[in-house]
Amino acid sequence: LNGKAVNACTTPLRVADGGEVLTIEGLGTPVHPHPLQRAFADCGACQCGFCIPGFVVSAAALLEKNPTPTVEEIREGLKENVCRCTGYQQIIEAVLSAAYPSSKPPIPEPPSPLKEIGRSRTRKDALEKSCGTAVYAADLYVAGMLHAAVLRSPHPHARIRSIDTAEAEALTGVHGVLTAKDVPHNRYGLITPDQPVLAEGKVRCVGEPVLAVAAESEDIAHEALKKVRIVWEVLPGILDPREALKPEVPYVQDLEPEGQVIQEYGKNIGSRRQVNRGDVDRAFGECAAVVEALVTTQRVEHGYLDPEACLSCLEEHAEGGDMLVVHSAGQNIFADRRQISAALKREIESIRIILPHCGGAFGGKEDVVSQIICSLLTVKTGRPVKYVLSREESMLDSTKRHPFYGTVKAGADASGKLLAVEVNLVGDTGAYTSVCDIVMTRGATHASGPYEVDNVRVDVIGVYTNNPIGGAMRGFGTPQVAFAIEVTMDKLAEALGIDPVEFRLTNALEPGKKTGAGQRLLRSVGLKECIEKAAEASAWHDFKRSRRRAPEEENPWRRGIGIGLAFKNVGLGNASERDKAAAEITLEPGDRVKIRTGAAEVGQGMTTILCQLAAEALGVPYEQVDIEIGDTLRTPESGVSSASRQTFMTGNAVVRAAQELKEQILRVASDVIDVPFELLNIEEGVIRAGGNPNLLMTLGELCQRAGERTFKADNLYVPPITHAWGESDEEGYKTHVTYGYGAQIAEVRVNEDTGEVVVDRIVAAHDVGRTIHPAAVRGQIGGGIVQGLGYTLWEEYRVENGKPKSKLFKKCGMPGIDQVPKIKTIIVEDHEADGPFGAQGVGEISTVPTAPAIANAIYDAVGVRITDLPVTPAKVRAALRARQKLVETAS
Ligand code: FES
Repeated sequence: LNGKAVNACTTPLRVADGGEVLTIEGLGTPVHPHPLQRAFADCGACQCGFCIPGFVVSAAALLEKNPTPTVEEIREGLKENVCRCTGYQQIIEAVLSAAYPSSKPPIPEPPSPLKEIGRSRTRKDALEKSCGTAVYAADLYVAGMLHAAVLRSPHPHARIRSIDTAEAEALTGVHGVLTAKDVPHNRYGLITPDQPVLAEGKVRCVGEPVLAVAAESEDIAHEALKKVRIVWEVLPGILDPREALKPEVPYVQDLEPEGQVIQEYGKNIGSRRQVNRGDVDRAFGECAAVVEALVTTQRVEHGYLDPEACLSCLEEHAEGGDMLVVHSAGQNIFADRRQISAALKREIESIRIILPHCGGAFGGKEDVVSQIICSLLTVKTGRPVKYVLSREESMLDSTKRHPFYGTVKAGADASGKLLAVEVNLVGDTGAYTSVCDIVMTRGATHASGPYEVDNVRVDVIGVYTNNPIGGAMRGFGTPQVAFAIEVTMDKLAEALGIDPVEFRLTNALEPGKKTGAGQRLLRSVGLKECIEKAAEASAWHDFKRSRRRAPEEENPWRRGIGIGLAFKNVGLGNASERDKAAAEITLEPGDRVKIRTGAAEVGQGMTTILCQLAAEALGVPYEQVDIEIGDTLRTPESGVSSASRQTFMTGNAVVRAAQELKEQILRVASDVIDVPFELLNIEEGVIRAGGNPNLLMTLGELCQRAGERTFKADNLYVPPITHAWGESDEEGYKTHVTYGYGAQIAEVRVNEDTGEVVVDRIVAAHDVGRTIHPAAVRGQIGGGIVQGLGYTLWEEYRVENGKPKSKLFKKCGMPGIDQVPKIKTIIVEDHEADGPFGAQGVGEISTVPTAPAIANAIYDAVGVRITDLPVTPAKVRAALRARQKLVETAS
């Protein structure tokens, strides 16, 4: 506004009256982008893209005033904008590259004999996102649409004595009011259908939907909600998982029959996963040192910038009747369709889900939120209905990262060999199941860390309470257990007098060794290389030596360095029947190649990576490949975009389909030009005959000469067999197809007076199998680290007496551009033979080791070990004071 960057959402129109307003649309278009828009696309700064128009406009205002900014000036100039995906590094690089076009930093590409693999191609969707033309669900509009609003529970636990909707229904402009009795099958859930679409007699958490309205405008819909009369009987809430486990406490879920069926592990227990390998008690008796830690982790909001939104409408079905068309940005549109079908008791073939751009998800869009309610309103009114959740509503309705508490005990012999680990953790899963069982399973599988240890006892349970629902979030239970085990490993190394890096090198998993749950790893375990490279790049030993030589004196700031390790499954594993992926690929007239898959792009860069894989397998340039995703009518089911699985799963399907397509093309070409099939190949999009450089034909020419012939291949990729949950020492036991590995080293400063922590640098080395797109890998690692940084120091979705206190986005503690440290990314490539061209997933793991690396660095700096996340200045101060008191008492 008048050359100054302002927040559109907080600037009243009267302030803009008569002024000059520049928005993203005024800068450029995908065909004629502004240099900044081009730079954001080229630097890999656009992940989900939701934040990018704001950053581009702020950067334009900054460069207008200061054409040659420093990095610090860029951080200052963009600090009113938030990105949850990128970790900000590539955003800063994009602004630098626009400001200093001749010194554009090259994106490192590892040497590769392959043409498309290992290249940072401009993402297929980058310019749409940097130019603001990408369409998200909230942008959708159809003529005649109604608007939905939902009345939600203000109570964590209450009985609904009565609901009177007469006044609301009589309001002019209201077309439909729904309560539980209007839902044909009032239960849904991603794994277990235990959640009412609209509350039935009772509410079990704050924010639970009770009633929905469709009206001519959002204002009328909200006005109608105010006219609904509900008589509540407030009940005592079960708000502490420790309480919920007591025998005298009632069931949180008293839904018959489905609600209780799943409580096979005990009252109020949604899941219990145990590992019992070796003889833990005997092994502890043989240890030279045994340590214990009491660990607490907090509830966290996903923080995607694009709140849930949905537009549903009825269209003519090609086969008669009507088709319910739902536009919404879930992580698995086919699972969304199944749940809508069950709740509406509607034939699945008469429901079509279409995925618009998705502005971030991080696990939070695995569960359906708005889709069923919107669909019900459309069916009831016969009109298109749009439902866009407000930020506060989105935070109330979506799941959260499970808070965990519990203990870890570990022991080793004098040489540092880890002999035994015992982990007991309890997760608060809130009022309904969501993915409780899977989170607890991942927690148990990963609880003893990426270490070889023969004696393991793990007990991880998920407990129902009347708190917000716990669900999937990046890392899926592994950030919590990694924090628990990694701070314990540091304690153990210290007790033995062994350097933390050396201790980890002694025990780290490598090919031939078994995970805590008993899976023998056969290959692609680059963990030791990650540790060594991270230690070298961070000058770990020099840092320790230099600090010992020159201790700070009067200055209250103390420096420290710490390490955290992680491993993380790729794919759902555990014999999941859902763990498969499909893709089809066609040669279109005019020589374009097109991939179709039902997988969801949620910002991770999947569409680009699939195009690179197809291009490489087929022998065509990346630019020749297009992709269509996310339409249950037009694209095959490819499973959820979760568990770091799409590069591996759908990537394999695409490569196999592309190989088959290539064979089809070359067989037809062999007939057409009368050259043996064996002599033909496709190179750079041209069919060539070996030994005869003059004999060639483009794919477009082949299409023309092949007449009616079409070229199409599809593949359903089913990964190697994994086994159902249950630890085992039997050879061949496998919980997951493969894992990613990583080591992060954090350098921090801690103020001994105030308890303030500043993270100066994080060195992150991650084994990704093989890099398909270096800039995307870097973006995933940087973004994951910054989420891990927030998890460590600031983020918490606070809940008191079952009521969320974090109602504003900015109160959730997510890091801004001015808070992030320097990040050095090291990519380790230990090829995974089952992966496409050796790749495995990298979506989640970068978040996992950050918290323990920082917590261990804080201990290194000031000698207090905080095992209760987030590590706030108050906790550091309290621990320092407690230590001081202890010293004074002792003296
Ligand atoms: Fe910034 Fe997703 S790219 S929020």
